[in-house]
Amino acid sequence: MNIKLTQSLPKTHTQKILKKEAKSKDAACLVVLIDDKKNILAESVLSDYHTRIEQLIEVSHFNGKACETVADYALAGDKKTTKENPVQLLLVGVGNVDKLRHSVLEKIANTIYKSTQKRVDSITVALGDSLEENHFSQFALSLLAASYRFDKYKSEQQTPVLTDIYLLAEPSLEESLNFAQAVFTGQSLTRDVANEPGNICFPAYMAEQAQELAATYPDLLKVTVLGEKEMSALGMNCFLSVAQGSTKEGKLVLIEYRGKSNFSVNADGDTSKATTNSAKVAGGLKALADKLPTKAASKKAAKNAKQDSNDDVQVANDDSPIVLVGKGVTFDSGGISIKPGAAMDEMKFDMGGSAAVLGTLKALCEARLPINVVGALACAENMPSGEATRPGDIIIAMNGKSVEILNTDAEGRLVLCDTLCYVQKYYQPKAIIDVATLTGACVVALGHVRSAVFSNDEDVLFDLENASHLSGDLIWHMPMDDEYQAQIDSPIADIQNIGGKGAGAVTAACFLSRFIEEGQAWAHLDIAGTAWISGQDKAATGRPVPLFMQYLRNSANMA
Ligand code: BES
Ligand code: MN
Ligand code: ZN
Repeated sequence: MNIKLTQSLPKTHTQKILKKEAKSKDAACLVVLIDDKKNILAESVLSDYHTRIEQLIEVSHFNGKACETVADYALAGDKKTTKENPVQLLLVGVGNVDKLRHSVLEKIANTIYKSTQKRVDSITVALGDSLEENHFSQFALSLLAASYRFDKYKSEQQTPVLTDIYLLAEPSLEESLNFAQAVFTGQSLTRDVANEPGNICFPAYMAEQAQELAATYPDLLKVTVLGEKEMSALGMNCFLSVAQGSTKEGKLVLIEYRGKSNFSVNADGDTSKATTNSAKVAGGLKALADKLPTKAASKKAAKNAKQDSNDDVQVANDDSPIVLVGKGVTFDSGGISIKPGAAMDEMKFDMGGSAAVLGTLKALCEARLPINVVGALACAENMPSGEATRPGDIIIAMNGKSVEILNTDAEGRLVLCDTLCYVQKYYQPKAIIDVATLTGACVVALGHVRSAVFSNDEDVLFDLENASHLSGDLIWHMPMDDEYQAQIDSPIADIQNIGGKGAGAVTAACFLSRFIEEGQAWAHLDIAGTAWISGQDKAATGRPVPLFMQYLRNSANMA
């Protein structure tokens, strides 16, 4: 789908062209937005069409309610008017303009797309200055997203006629439109990957997707994939305890996006306790780090300054990356604590967090934001088998903490906790944001409208909430009081992996918080209710790519 800003109304066609074929090759439609007081939005730019619009409103008893439509496709109807304006006309209601918000704009965009995709090659949506910049951006992204389809497994694909969208609006919105396009590109990758079934999308597939992305943007991305041997050498046993029941190998995929000159990677790799394999891993990181001006004198003693195990001071500085960690459970059967059968197929979406991180990295490359970001995809398949982890097993995580696994279906936190340890050890993250389809309890709490956010850092929380507001990709702040922590204390290990009845989304966040070092800014997003749409029309939403991109864009501007 092409989308462009324009300052002119669609080209009018002569009767000669229109008469040529029933389906003119450049059939165009002018989309006019009308509010519930029957005001024409962008009226000033539509003077040529004014009479026709007013007449159509009147004869059709059009009210301007949100998503109400009426079309005038009668191109050759009245000879006189056709000669002047032989362009199809679609009126779309927007409701009360003071109540415009992301969800309404998205519905309007879907309505416009659905009503025109099979009829015309191009549409021009007359916006004028009726939308403020953020709403414009949300609307543009929604129009693009409406054109997304996942029909590769259908024996017949339907190709829409519509290929070009013109937005009749201020030229100053160019940058916003470009950004929306970058977000769309990334979000589409997220949806593509998340929509793949579990027999296609397993951990190695996720790794391949990352490698393909890096091949497309070699100047910006670097990908490292750790397999089970490497993770074993690093002591990532919680991660491995999830992967071990499956014949598919678990993978930790690291994607480094370098949009800014410097990039701090812990070059020493702490090989002191390492075996050959982890030395290999650390060697890889060292090779990578050698090429970079690492350990540049930090300009300010960041509050998340911390020491690594070699007493070599590693301080997060202005060039330190923001690290995004995604849950990548490519299929969650529940393991030995097997899930009930109903809708178990939807657990193919349990890698939605990783898919969102991957898509965000792609969107970053498209937008070329001047910022450093690391994406970590924690990929494993959770299956029952003779090799699978048992309820009651005790596992030692990468940071040395012991975890009693009481329910093998609480697996997301297990792949995440070791990944959180890993990124804290090898990068000096300015902030870590993990994103996961973590708990059914989150769906109970917030449904499908807002993702849950938990954080130990006021600034990160503020920035995420701000990005939520600006992008319309909504989140809601949830509590993480210390008092909840007791629910995950184990009688025989340091931690147990479930918190019993009550506050399931909170205790999952508490579990992750046990793996965050003192002073490390961190937020956790539970997207269990927002990553995909359930039921007959099941499909990945691509959330929270718009939220992440807005957050990163703002971070880049602040730096
Ligand atoms: N992937 C699920 C969470 C989930 C369930 C997301 C339904 C979306 C819809 C996760 O791995 C899980 O199974 N969580 C358990 C945790 C419980 C065992 C403490 C849950 O929510 O039931
Ligand atoms: Mn599970
Ligand atoms: Zn899961």
